[in-house]
Amino acid sequence: MGEVDPAFIQDPDHRPKLSITEVEGIPLIDLTPIISPDSISDPKAIEVVVREIGNACRDWGFFQVINHGVVLDKLRKTETAARKFFALPLEEKRKIRRGEKSVLGYYDSERTKNVRDWKEVFDFTVEEPTLVPASPDPEDKEETEWYNQWPEHPPELREVCEEYAREVEKLALKLMGLIALSLGLPENRFSSYFKDQTTSIRLNHYPACPSPQLALGVGRHKDGGALTVLAQDDVGGLEVRRKTDGAWIRVKPTPNAYIINVGDSIQVWTNEKYQSVEHRVMVNSEKERFSIPYFLNPSHYTIIKPLEELINEQNLAKYRPYSWGKFMTNRKLSNFKKLNVENIQI
Ligand code: SIN
Ligand code: FE2
Repeated sequence: MGEVDPAFIQDPDHRPKLSITEVEGIPLIDLTPIISPDSISDPKAIEVVVREIGNACRDWGFFQVINHGVVLDKLRKTETAARKFFALPLEEKRKIRRGEKSVLGYYDSERTKNVRDWKEVFDFTVEEPTLVPASPDPEDKEETEWYNQWPEHPPELREVCEEYAREVEKLALKLMGLIALSLGLPENRFSSYFKDQTTSIRLNHYPACPSPQLALGVGRHKDGGALTVLAQDDVGGLEVRRKTDGAWIRVKPTPNAYIINVGDSIQVWTNEKYQSVEHRVMVNSEKERFSIPYFLNPSHYTIIKPLEELINEQNLAKYRPYSWGKFMTNRKLSNFKKLNVENIQI
């Protein structure tokens, strides 16, 4: 057995079990009726998909989609460029390290719940507002240093990432429309929240780890934004907390599928009808793993609160309104408890 630095070692309660034998998987949803032009006019088939999505959001907070319409060649190019980037020497990658200048770029020291993650990442944003105030209040002087830092190598990284972002965005927004329909709301109910969105994409690299029974690629957490659309390779390692009994369920990779999960913003908008769910990533002693989550986030000045249509006297609002931009800034300061939203990845 190899050894890892103590900073990476999880408390015994949170260490992964290497021999999970769960058979139940998260729901797998075929989006053909939504994507294929032939069946676009088949309202019954669309209704079935909407119902499946609603049930999956309610029961799991997680699902996989196939036949999702994303041009996979664009994903493959991004994966190839990501592998080239992570293969560079550390000094080279650290030239665009996240820190003083921007909260985006390369990072190899992320902690989740104060334990280091066994991973390195590269973050970029899809729309780049550069320096923005955290709130429209002129008294509020906080700013988010929110701009991209692209590496010199591989030179194609920027272009393939930007193209991929535009491609996957279509799926993410389509899913928000289906989620709205599943709540009995108009398909465009969430659209206004995503004008000038603060969406970001992360390239993840989980190197092989000598002690996969002690460390995690990402410790348990929930996602803070609206929706995550995750592409992963065939190695596997993602685990999801099952709502019914709290057991950790391994997500077996399905070729060409995306894994979708509900974030805290949806939990608040739906007043907990759909809840964000804890997940974590196991590492592997033999194989490195790559994954690419797309975090669909609201626009900077969005005020997030339970939707009026979904609350009433029997179902009072469980959250007070909060500004997404302020939340993101506070997240950097690890100061979210006051917003009534806990457990979010730092
Ligand atoms: C994450 O939840 O941050 C990453 C998920 C994954 O790599 O599977
Ligand atoms: Fe996550």
